[in-house]
Amino acid sequence: MAKPLLRVQHIEVFYHDFHALWDVSLEVEKGLVVSIIGANGAGKSTLLNTIAGVLRPSSGIIEFDHKRIDGWMPYQMVAEGISMVPEGRRIFPRLTVLENLEMGCYVPKARQKRDQVLKKIYELFPILEKRKNQFSITLSGGEQQMLAIGRALMSQPRLILLDEISLGLAPLVIKNIYQTVKQIHSEGISALLVEQDIQRSLKACHKVYVMQSGKIRLEGRPGELSQEDIRKAYFGV
Ligand SMILES: Nc1ncnc2c1ncn2[C@@H]1O[C@H](COP(=O)(O)OP(=O)(O)OP(=O)(O)O)[C@@H](O)[C@H]1O
Ligand SMILES: [Mg+2]
Repeated sequence: MAKPLLRVQHIEVFYHDFHALWDVSLEVEKGLVVSIIGANGAGKSTLLNTIAGVLRPSSGIIEFDHKRIDGWMPYQMVAEGISMVPEGRRIFPRLTVLENLEMGCYVPKARQKRDQVLKKIYELFPILEKRKNQFSITLSGGEQQMLAIGRALMSQPRLILLDEISLGLAPLVIKNIYQTVKQIHSEGISALLVEQDIQRSLKACHKVYVMQSGKIRLEGRPGELSQEDIRKAYFGV
């Protein structure tokens, strides 16, 4: 069994008096792709935002590479090796493609290797090099998603959090994006992937967690879980 890189233990998260995550535990082993599936409002983004330091758990523990990190600020998470591609991409539309990528390497460790990492990202997404001086608002949806992933890679993460990277994209574009997830994984980067598309998610991951109403309802390797169990956990019926 591979070593856990990320270990989330029994976290509870609230938005004021709304209890969004209930006793959530999850592990991402080194070098694996783990996915979280669940319907709208299941708590998937809340969980990723908590791991990324955007939200704080009210109780529970988050460990990254055996270091306790819950309560840290997002920039500290990035410096430690966790970076996130947020839902809806959140690129800076009035900055150029290159300026957006630069925003991803503000931590000193990443800045030192900026040219080397940029070259790799351009190899992964050649279109970003072609468009590097264009305002990012002029990119297509798929290209913007590539930019969001590229920006997250600029900090040279050990773990990348991907929140619904296929949302609103055409099937062929989604296929290309998932191809790059494979490449990212082959570089040794672990990934925690959030998806609504069950089949897409099962194909891409080594382990899956099914969330519903703020709780983990099911977990296992894709081959071990029956479609029926997944469907039940997903819809909570
Ligand atoms: N800022 C907020 N304030 C209050 N409640 C929130 C806030 N953000 C999310 N929620 C609630 O928390 C629950 C989980 O939301 P979350 O965005 O994590 O779900 P999700 O699984 O990512 O859904 P989707 O697939 O639609 O992105 C939902 O009931 C949502 O309404
Ligand atoms: Mg979400």
